[in-house]
Amino acid sequence: MQIENIATEPYNDQNPGTSGLRKKVRIFQQPGYLENFVQSIFDSLEGFTGQTLVLGGDGRYFNRIAIQIIIKIAAANGFGQLIIGQGGLLSTPAASHIIRKYKAFGGLILSASHNPGGPDEDFGIKYNVSNGGPAPEKYTDAFYQRSQIIDSYKTAKIDDVDLDRIGPQQIDELKITIIDPVTDYAELMQSIFNFNLLKQSISSGYISLLFDAMSAITGPYAKRILVDMLGASPESVINAEPLEDFGGHHPDPNLAHAHELAERMFSADAPTFGAASDGDGDRNMITGSNIFVTPSDSLAIIAANAHLIPAYSKGISGVARSMPTSQAVDRVAANYNIPCYETPTGWKFFGNLLDAGKITLCGEESFGTGSDHVREKDGLWAVLFWLNLIARKRQSVAGIVHEHWQKFGRDIYCRHDYEAVENSIANGIVEHLRSQLPTLLGQSFGEYVVKFADEFSYEDPIDGSTSQNQGIRIGFENGSRIVFRLSGTGTVGATLRIYIERFEADASRHDQDAQEALGDLIALAEQFCEIKKRTGRTAPNVTT
Ligand code: G1P
Ligand code: ZN
Repeated sequence: MQIENIATEPYNDQNPGTSGLRKKVRIFQQPGYLENFVQSIFDSLEGFTGQTLVLGGDGRYFNRIAIQIIIKIAAANGFGQLIIGQGGLLSTPAASHIIRKYKAFGGLILSASHNPGGPDEDFGIKYNVSNGGPAPEKYTDAFYQRSQIIDSYKTAKIDDVDLDRIGPQQIDELKITIIDPVTDYAELMQSIFNFNLLKQSISSGYISLLFDAMSAITGPYAKRILVDMLGASPESVINAEPLEDFGGHHPDPNLAHAHELAERMFSADAPTFGAASDGDGDRNMITGSNIFVTPSDSLAIIAANAHLIPAYSKGISGVARSMPTSQAVDRVAANYNIPCYETPTGWKFFGNLLDAGKITLCGEESFGTGSDHVREKDGLWAVLFWLNLIARKRQSVAGIVHEHWQKFGRDIYCRHDYEAVENSIANGIVEHLRSQLPTLLGQSFGEYVVKFADEFSYEDPIDGSTSQNQGIRIGFENGSRIVFRLSGTGTVGATLRIYIERFEADASRHDQDAQEALGDLIALAEQFCEIKKRTGRTAPNVTT
């Protein structure tokens, strides 16, 4: 194999965020941009000569081109085998599973998750380590350091690889194996859930379902698992064809973006169960007939009922949630006397806890839920979990949610996102919040007395690494919280996220609308951060 060393100049903006490097496609198309970053990753890793690398993406615009570029760089750097999803496709949880199953050295996942796709939209790349999970910060820091001084990359002079032909191909010393993207993942799901029970519940009509793949990666997965294996009707999977631009939509599973699903689920003839996933298949939105389940509640309900699912029937070792996720799962953990960990935002912080067996389940308020079966959040896993639960409990989604609230109380929750805020204004807001922290303690705002006001920092209980400045939190004596964070995944300006929660024990008040029930706290959040005042905006771009 002929290998070329190509001289290059560093780019100064290749610092991975919450989940890999995400930029506009046009940025990735600059000469050497992708090449530099991939070479920086390989330069920061050791011991992969002759080893296996998994490669796949969510199929967005630039996916195929990027895969061909990466194949050549990986070949030149000495990998022995590349396992690639057919057509260059792999959902993020499937990639995580394949890294683990085939004992790969690591994997490169091409995705910008729920961000829009297309020539003028977003692209992304992230490296996952051998446990199948996103590279921890010590790696991503090293990639960034390297990218700032890189002066050349290696590439192999080989032809483009036929990504559509399943099976092995040999190019000199490099083996390339194109696999069906769905098969391994579908088998894994079958080993976790009770597929026979699900088949019966669907064929008998007890469960009717609607899944919105949002023209993204989960279409083929949902068709194989829900339709072919579980017998749901083909019409139960909508927007099932993955498109390079996701049909021009945000492939983000929430009520605003999955509007087709939302309309059906809040209509008179709504199916029993409705769900959606995102661009790369790791997020999930759960709804039932005329009810939306917040991701924080979904995590708590999953934890409380895990023993009803075959793979978790022996119980769960512990749970974890990202800091801004509501405290609903904490109540379940306390009730079951198992540990509950609070981590910074981003799935990479769950990896060590999962590897050490400290936790079985984890989740984030941002529509992410998962377990120790892989090291990524997993959209279809959550969908199958809920379906299995409905079938096993013989209860509706609303029935399950209300029963849960009755037992544990309800953590009323919402998140407000202000997107594309000018960077200087966003930084000013963070500075303003920071400056108030020392004086807030003990102050009263109506019924709310400040119990703590700080910036969240985390010490990993397994490897002792620390992560500072992970969001500003203001907590009150009655358990309510307001959290402020700047997004680490946006590609335009800054996105301010405001997370608000309040606990309601009284079952007669559990049906309140979250925005109304949180009205006082929402006003208080504005008083603290002044986002509306400083930007002139009147409302958040997205409320979840
Ligand atoms: C967002 C979510 C976070 C999630 C990440 C990747 O990151 O808030 O929970 O892990 O996307 O899906 P953010 O943009 O807030 O940094
Ligand atoms: Zn995603």
